[in-house]
Amino acid sequence: MTKFVRGLALIAGLSLVGFNAVRADEESKKAQKDILEIAADIEAGKDIAAKVAAVKKKYEDLNSLMHAYKPSEKGGIGFGPKAKGDGIEIKLNSLAKRALTKTAIDKEKADLVKTGYINIAIAKITDAYAPTKPKGGKTPKDWKKFTEDMEKASKSLIDAAKAGDSAALKTAATNLNSSCNNCHSDFRDS
Ligand code: HEC
Repeated sequence: MTKFVRGLALIAGLSLVGFNAVRADEESKKAQKDILEIAADIEAGKDIAAKVAAVKKKYEDLNSLMHAYKPSEKGGIGFGPKAKGDGIEIKLNSLAKRALTKTAIDKEKADLVKTGYINIAIAKITDAYAPTKPKGGKTPKDWKKFTEDMEKASKSLIDAAKAGDSAALKTAATNLNSSCNNCHSDFRDS
């Protein structure tokens, strides 16, 4: 390859990387709108089966949906008012580590409840992405179990936030985190 051709190949390669990054960004932004819509439907007691099926058709990669857990500055949904490090994943970790006082829960109640419904929505969506064949000895049944754990813990988190129950909120966040970590260690590649 001449220097010139190598240069061209490099430029083409770099723009492809850039193009893919922009595309992934747009995908996850769209995915978040869908997640928030499904979360609102769940809160309103509506049936979400059709919307979940549509999401599964629309996004090939589960990553576009999981990206919602990142801080808002990284293109995630974020917890509460926009701020650095406001990611839902970070918030769940801190809720599991240190119990909030009842006063703090009451102050954050609306955001905690909203986050709970977002997590139920993501659990329902993730369920639709269950692998069709086993991976490293883990089966689609294991995947389903993790999404069920995730949903159950999210419901407990909502109840605890509404009740202002510090201990129950910490337990719910701990269980929710375990569902994430258990699935990631079995099914996530990186
Ligand atoms: C049932 C399985 C499962 C559960 C439960 C699960 N995840 Fe994931 N998650 C995955 C997989 C698989 C990937 C990688 C997807 C890919 O690479 O296409 C992933 C990727 C991610 C990513 C990376 C997104 C990005 O943009 O790079 C984040 C963040 C994440 N998950 C957070 C969470 C959090 C937080 C929870 C729990 C509240 C959770 N996940 C629960 C399976 C799961």
